[in-house]
Amino acid sequence: MIKDTLTSSITEKNAVIGVIGLGYVGLPLIVEFCLKGYQGIGFEVDKKKADSINAGESYIVDVSGENVQKCLADGKLSATTDFSLLAKCDVVIICVPTPLRKTKDPDMSYIIAAGEEIQKYLRKGQLIILESTTYPGTTDEVLQPMLEEKGFKLDEDFLLAFSPERVDPGNPQFQTHNIPKVVGGVSPDSTEVASLLYAQIVNEVHSVSSARVAEACKLWENTFRAINIGMANEMARLCNTLGIDTWEVVRAAATKPFGFMPFYPGPGIGGHCIPLDPHYLSWKARQHGFDSQFISLAEQVNSGMPAYVVKLVSTALNDVKKAVNGSKILILGVAYKKDIDDMRESPALSIIDLLRSRGADLVYHDPFVPEVTFDHAYTIGDAEPLYNKDLTDELVKNSDCVIICTEHSNIDYKRICELAPLIVDTRNALSPDVRNGSKAKVVRL
Ligand SMILES: NC(=O)c1ccc[n+]([C@@H]2O[C@H](COP(=O)([O-])OP(=O)(O)OC[C@H]3O[C@@H](n4cnc5c(N)ncnc54)[C@H](O)[C@@H]3O)[C@@H](O)[C@H]2O)c1
Repeated sequence: MIKDTLTSSITEKNAVIGVIGLGYVGLPLIVEFCLKGYQGIGFEVDKKKADSINAGESYIVDVSGENVQKCLADGKLSATTDFSLLAKCDVVIICVPTPLRKTKDPDMSYIIAAGEEIQKYLRKGQLIILESTTYPGTTDEVLQPMLEEKGFKLDEDFLLAFSPERVDPGNPQFQTHNIPKVVGGVSPDSTEVASLLYAQIVNEVHSVSSARVAEACKLWENTFRAINIGMANEMARLCNTLGIDTWEVVRAAATKPFGFMPFYPGPGIGGHCIPLDPHYLSWKARQHGFDSQFISLAEQVNSGMPAYVVKLVSTALNDVKKAVNGSKILILGVAYKKDIDDMRESPALSIIDLLRSRGADLVYHDPFVPEVTFDHAYTIGDAEPLYNKDLTDELVKNSDCVIICTEHSNIDYKRICELAPLIVDTRNALSPDVRNGSKAKVVRL
């Protein structure tokens, strides 16, 4: 019985764990298994990433080089571009990207490509798990038929499950081991064995009745965030219209010990998850004739925030008799959130693009991001790349406006307030103390 064989190899730590895609999700995962004593093989299409892991170097902020080196020294970890080694694995976990197409429909090409490799090398007795965020039905509608095409039978020859990844890059408090893991198989045996597997590396496993429930759970979580951030953004604009301090309102509301969870406004949403994942859900719902209105509304509000920030900048400059055209604008922080280097879907990209299209002379400082590139196909202004500028006194002093897009911790905001003539703070990065002593005119979201 496949269930019994896998149960004993997992319990006895003989199971070889393959992870396809060694990015933000896959690398921490495989390292966690290797640290727990399992043999881990990482599969990558990017040879540079595979080489760097084999050389003991980590390129992911939450994975230390020491841990990678320890796994290598123990002979537990290896990375490869040779997918024929999939046949050696007892468990194969897929952690490849799930972006959107230009039409905002799910781009399943990475999952399909990984599925095709698995299909090629599938042998009897393997547990396949999908971790990439995707629409409900992917595991049983897309992957299961690919595996069955080989004539293999679920529960007899292979097991198949979905388990969403909830990692929060850069979060020192919650990492793989202490984030509860939801697991749903396409059969009860699949759920049971996949849950047992994750129980080896995480403190809490929550099993659900199907892969579809687990897929929907992940999308519900991220849609919840997108919608609540959308509401915070709308409330910020509403408060601004009424002349009320948004941030003071949220702080006050957050004192309620039940029934309120604070979400904060900002220049827009970014990252690989929150701006994309709700589209996976609404796309699937649309296939069944259901129009998810909350998702559309949140998307509309959140994607309008960069233009709103540009409006704030333009009004603030106008108040001091300046135009955006020709003004020197310094953007502080371009990554999509604080203290990380991830530029994916960062709202700073749209803000820069809109300001450059209006003739602003634009530079940025971000200690985590050396270079910002633009996709020509989507850019309305200048598509030339930008490079990080040192945060010198001269740079700040000579700027007509400083926009705080991302509130990185290692910026001396007091100094910015002493030097800049005008600051647009989209993150409430300036504490009341700093703000009140400021020589700069400060405009907040
Ligand atoms: N980053 C996050 O915070 C996060 C959190 C939860 C869930 N997720 C989800 O996890 C999945 C992976 O995200 P990520 O952030 O790790 O992406 P990533 O881009 O950091 O990593 C994906 C890796 O997969 C590799 N890859 C692509 N196609 C491949 C293939 N066919 N075979 C082998 N390797 C391949 C890429 O080279 C890359 O290294 C996505 O579905 C994402 O939505 C991400």
